[in-house]
Amino acid sequence: MSNKAYITTPIYYVNDVPHIGHAYTTIIADTMARYYRLIGRETFFLTGTDEHGQKIEEAAKSRGKTPQGYADEISGKFKALWDEFDISYDKFIRTTDAYHKEGVQYAFSVMFDKGDIYKGEYEGHYCVSCETFFTDTQLVDEGGCPDCGKPTRLVKEESYFFKLSKYQEPLLKWYNDDEKCVLPKGKKNEVISFVKQGLRDLSITRTSFDWGVKLPASMNDNKHVMYVWLDALLNYITALGYGKENENMHFWPATIQLVGKDILRFHAIYWPAFLMSLGLPLPQHVGAHGWWTRNGEKMSKSKGNVVNPKEVADAYGLENFRYFLLREVPFGQDGDFSQKALMDRINSDLGNELGNLLNRIIGMSGKYSNGVVDSKDVLKFYATELSNVNDILKNVETTLLELQTNRYLEDLWKALTIANQSITLHEPWVKMKEGKEEEAFALVALVSNILARVTLLLHPVMPKTTAKIAHALGFEITTASYEKLIVARTLLDTFTIEKVPPLFPRIEEELMAQPSLPSPEPVVIKTSKKESKIESIITIDQFFETSLKVGTIKEAEVVEGSDRLLKLQIDLGEEHTRQIIAGIREFYTPKELVNTQVCVVANLKPATIKGLLSQGMLLAAKDKEGMSLIRPEHPRKSGASIG
Ligand code: MSP
Repeated sequence: MSNKAYITTPIYYVNDVPHIGHAYTTIIADTMARYYRLIGRETFFLTGTDEHGQKIEEAAKSRGKTPQGYADEISGKFKALWDEFDISYDKFIRTTDAYHKEGVQYAFSVMFDKGDIYKGEYEGHYCVSCETFFTDTQLVDEGGCPDCGKPTRLVKEESYFFKLSKYQEPLLKWYNDDEKCVLPKGKKNEVISFVKQGLRDLSITRTSFDWGVKLPASMNDNKHVMYVWLDALLNYITALGYGKENENMHFWPATIQLVGKDILRFHAIYWPAFLMSLGLPLPQHVGAHGWWTRNGEKMSKSKGNVVNPKEVADAYGLENFRYFLLREVPFGQDGDFSQKALMDRINSDLGNELGNLLNRIIGMSGKYSNGVVDSKDVLKFYATELSNVNDILKNVETTLLELQTNRYLEDLWKALTIANQSITLHEPWVKMKEGKEEEAFALVALVSNILARVTLLLHPVMPKTTAKIAHALGFEITTASYEKLIVARTLLDTFTIEKVPPLFPRIEEELMAQPSLPSPEPVVIKTSKKESKIESIITIDQFFETSLKVGTIKEAEVVEGSDRLLKLQIDLGEEHTRQIIAGIREFYTPKELVNTQVCVVANLKPATIKGLLSQGMLLAAKDKEGMSLIRPEHPRKSGASIG
């Protein structure tokens, strides 16, 4: 095993503020980095922000900002959150940093000199939201992006291409030779079947916008900027000083590169192909995690249900949140965030099992032996219990290195269960009464040792909490104690327990408000269904209770599993677009709706249709022949009032 470790997170786009998905990746990576440091490896942990590309350029423009100013602002928010979350990164890279741009240009020239880059013309579809190229046959629902469903744009421009097809066989060989190169296995199989379908060369430059890294001066071609994914992926080596001397390149290849499942293809196909072209070794593990939903629903800004990690950490405690994220879902699978699930984990796993064990040790040792705990008789009386614990803990390292954080924690909790059950079973208070004091003392020492081992192994997940427990048990969390207690399985030296206030006070009710609806808060229409029928007479005031507005359809996509419904994102001149689920699929295709105007009932009570939030209604005329949307005769500003 190398004595170095290099852990990376994806670099986050600066078009969005940090949410639970970003926090999840970063917290897993932080846990792994802390683990490697604990076991004594020289560790480098990288995170940062991805700041170029069309998506960022457009996001900045729509807010009236320069791309750089906008990137500075949002990148700062990511960094501030990671600092507040005590994320132990060694470097925070920004793709607008000068050294990164130089490294990317250098890499481009190496790949070019190798003969892996050629000039041509790209014609196809581009999804700005995913920053991905697609062919005709890959699109869904008449022009929709197969990954996110949003409408794609037709692109035809001069472009440099990377010979990705040349690396198809070497990639397949890598997957075949290195069993754990992509984790988990199921995701690796998906990558393999994708590659087996055949790889096309990849367009790696764009000419239709500016916000990107220019080609190296040696190319003498100023029109092009690099494709944002080439620029972004190279961050993993430019951060180490690729192309420069005396820097941190000795950390390469990465030990673990964490990504979400949506960006695995870039990391398990393009990235290793680029590395092969550069003549660099491939990462040891690329690990893809699943996505978080909230209360069973996909999170999105328009639904207003995005989980804000800071809000959760403030309400429930940062380390409790970390534990929840890593314990709740098997790595690679999707997980659901709900306050109830979080509270259950805190009250049950952390409070009843971990916190309570420490309290029992404090209580018993205080009563029986003035707080002194001595391990000398543990093996004499409780060798079986200790060996059962050793059996459980001997495999946990492999589990964690395969990123199965939930199983890792489950195993640690199995050890805690042995400790708690031993107390119930052996009833040390009875032993004290029966004069078997040695056995009672040894039992307290047994469970203290189990807790100490779990505490060390839990440290990467809950650094501050475990430091407090370790302190109570008379040791500090260091690589030396890891070697002594975990590797050599030595028992604790005699110590006097330190009292600590309860670590996990019980949480009785939800501590955060439920997701708020986007403003303005919709007004509930008071007219009854009967009264609102055309035939009934209403007053002018009643009519004006309905807020009718002109809306511009920004995005349209079909609702999976419905023949009737389309999901629309509509600009009503408010801060965020509104999502409206409309039953017009038989009459309109998503493509023909985008950028057209409609009339919207804007103060309708929001409803959930097929599990999707709908915040308004479109006006349409309907008869036997069909349906036609009501639209302003001439374009008006989004949000213009009707009436
Ligand atoms: N900039 C690219 C990555 C470039 S890496 C060279 C990018 N950025 S992102 O900000 O859009 O996404 C970053 C990560 O957040 C991805 O790994 C993605 O999977 C993750 N998540 C975004 N939403 C998520 C959830 N709802 N749940 C879990 N993770 C999700 O992609």
